[in-house]
Amino acid sequence: MTDEKATIDAIAKAARAADTVTVLTGSGLSAASGVPTFRDPDNGLWADYRPEDIATPEAFERAPDTVWQWYRARRRQLEEVEPNAGHHALAKLARALPDLRLVTQNVDGLHQRAGHPDVMAFHGDITTNQCHVEGRVVSVDDARDTPPRCPHCGGLVRPGVVWFGEALDSDLVERAVAAAGAADVFLAVGTSAEVHPAALLADLAREGGARVAEINPDATALSERTDWVVRASAAEALPRLLERALAGTE
Ligand code: OAD
Repeated sequence: MTDEKATIDAIAKAARAADTVTVLTGSGLSAASGVPTFRDPDNGLWADYRPEDIATPEAFERAPDTVWQWYRARRRQLEEVEPNAGHHALAKLARALPDLRLVTQNVDGLHQRAGHPDVMAFHGDITTNQCHVEGRVVSVDDARDTPPRCPHCGGLVRPGVVWFGEALDSDLVERAVAAAGAADVFLAVGTSAEVHPAALLADLAREGGARVAEINPDATALSERTDWVVRASAAEALPRLLERALAGTE
């Protein structure tokens, strides 16, 4: 048996025995779907822009049309891609295990499209819109060059994502912290684990007694604090993990 196979077997065995498995995903999971990650120097989402020119409340207030059009272009790109085998495997694993909790930093909606039953979307969901003034989620036609007005208060409507410098939804943070604390196994998939507080979840899980696994082709800030490391693409490793986890339940 190769090391990688043995590691996946060990994670699958621990996941089967766990009361709670908590999974944190980042943009690396969607890489195989053709969605660029954040920090890849060649292919990163921000190759042509500085984040502070687009993904901040100040940028939206300064140039609402530019920001709106950038997100509209991203939404159109996302309509061209599909969830990959990794998203599908996680959704199946969530149905097979008694308690799998998913926290994602991704705003691309691919977990939801793969049929994942319950997604804690920490940084929001790019497919939604919200009022920039009151934060209320609104349903609007986004096929326009300027942001629409909120039907309730007349404020500008913006994408339902968390921008740099903005607070995360406190209910979600509470649920995610609880999920990390409850975990027997914590799986970090496709994230550089550089952005807090998502990055802290693994440490919280470990302090709560969880064993921590990382699935990532490259080393990350987390790698040294894990029990298992699988150096592979999530789209390859997660289906194998699912297969091993299911094999043990037969
Ligand atoms: P990053 O771009 O920081 O990290 C992506 C990670 O995915 C890296 O560690 C890669 O090695 C890994 N990776 C690349 N290809 C992979 C593959 N095929 N399978 C598995 N892993 C792969 O993206 P995130 O960690 O998601 O926040 O970034 C977190 C947050 O930083 C984002 O949500 C965003 C950004 O600031 C906000 O927008 C608020």
